[in-house]
Amino acid sequence: MKALGLPDEAWGRVKILPETSRFIEGHKEMTRGKDFLFALGAIGPGHEFSIPTMFAYLIEGLKKNTSLTDEDVEYFSLHIVEDVEHAVVFNKLISRHVETEEGQKRLREGALQSLAYRKTFWDGLHRAVFGA
Ligand SMILES: [Fe+2]
Repeated sequence: MKALGLPDEAWGRVKILPETSRFIEGHKEMTRGKDFLFALGAIGPGHEFSIPTMFAYLIEGLKKNTSLTDEDVEYFSLHIVEDVEHAVVFNKLISRHVETEEGQKRLREGALQSLAYRKTFWDGLHRAVFGA
């Protein structure tokens, strides 16, 4: 936030978008339930696999439209590298648990639900930054 010119006082006072709250609460609900495969789909393919792709676009946009340095966007660049490996780890975990069609279905539904919440999040961010 400092790199974007926000003062220290802004930390923790930035209003959370309703779409962001929905994303967070939706994921809490998905991962605290009893459906292990649904949660695994949300966090594995839904998060770890998709983050490197999203963050690459995010960094490109930030670099193109702000004066942020490589160091300023380090959080995102690190996750691009780390989450490729995390996705591999999740895929290994997943392969042990999806031997049935029902298991595959639950995993897929978890991934798709996570991505749906993610789309809502990005749509909200787009609305907040660029208007409706
Ligand atoms: Fe990760």
